[in-house]
Amino acid sequence: MTTLTIRRPDDWHLHLRDGEMLKGVLPETARHFARAIIMPNLVPPVVTAKDAAEYRDRIMAAKPDNSDFQPLMTLYLTEDTNVKDLRAAHEIGLITAVKLYPAGATTNSASGVKDFKNVRRQLETMAQIGLPLCIHGEVTDPDVDIFDREAVFIDTILDPLRRDIPGLRVISEHITTKDGVDYIRENKDIAATITTHHLVINRNHILVGGIKPHYYCLPVAKREQHRLALVEAATSGDPHFFLGTDSAPHTDDLKEHACGCAGCFTATNTLSILAEVFEQEGKLGTLEKFTSLNGPAFYKLPANQDTITLTKGDPVTYPAKIDTGAGPVTVFDPLMPLHWRVT
Ligand code: DOR
Ligand code: ZN
Repeated sequence: MTTLTIRRPDDWHLHLRDGEMLKGVLPETARHFARAIIMPNLVPPVVTAKDAAEYRDRIMAAKPDNSDFQPLMTLYLTEDTNVKDLRAAHEIGLITAVKLYPAGATTNSASGVKDFKNVRRQLETMAQIGLPLCIHGEVTDPDVDIFDREAVFIDTILDPLRRDIPGLRVISEHITTKDGVDYIRENKDIAATITTHHLVINRNHILVGGIKPHYYCLPVAKREQHRLALVEAATSGDPHFFLGTDSAPHTDDLKEHACGCAGCFTATNTLSILAEVFEQEGKLGTLEKFTSLNGPAFYKLPANQDTITLTKGDPVTYPAKIDTGAGPVTVFDPLMPLHWRVT
């Protein structure tokens, strides 16, 4: 096969930031993706309907002229989130989901949830009105090893929370473990996004031969056996797994730092990488499900009508960095030749 035409993809988990960074990175996503779920972890975070409406306007203003890209907005759940405001934002179609960060789990998560009992009312409302919850699924207990934080979260928080609030539709974001894959397969009303980079790297890529800050993200990449489980899930066609790149730009000075930020920037080359990974598995036939069909189905949105075509040829190269008004951002290096380009 040398060409592959698929429905236009969506990105179900994306960081666009704000200001000059937003202007610099948005064209990279808008080039190939029709829609994206926009993460609300700005500083300060997007917590009210008003914040979301204003952020959406800034995204629309930063969009390239000829682009139909549609941002799907989210609210950042806090223990003080006003239920009326949340309901109203959903009713007018302003927000597509709500994002739950355990306080301290990742970049700009300080105002996240400390005690899950304190967001029960908000979550019950969401279950009632059918508003999905995106979860960053890692515990923050300092006693739990960072490589175990996802598995412990599933057992101690996610599963009890779902039993407590039946009917809540949950997206377990950027799963990184076989435990995560197995949990999604065994349960209803839950799906998972999988990032591009977690299909490619394991923890050796971060730590062997010198520390590689551009491969550091959260949840941190795990052992190879977990990466293999993610590849199997993503390429299986199972409707409960779909693409959320978690493309998370930070300028190089903040990545290459004594306390480097978490995040891999994959917006630029994601589709070439995914096509390569799916082809290596002999699963190009399920790429469209992962990038373009399973996500809309779970979010109860129509799939995109138009298509993109990927063509296989000589290795395709991408810039090592993109320049943004905020500074240079390194593009994720998949450490393998890529042969598929969007034409
Ligand atoms: O690697 C990550 N970067 N993981 C997250 O959860 C947040 C993100 C960011 O905002 O930089
Ligand atoms: Zn993220």
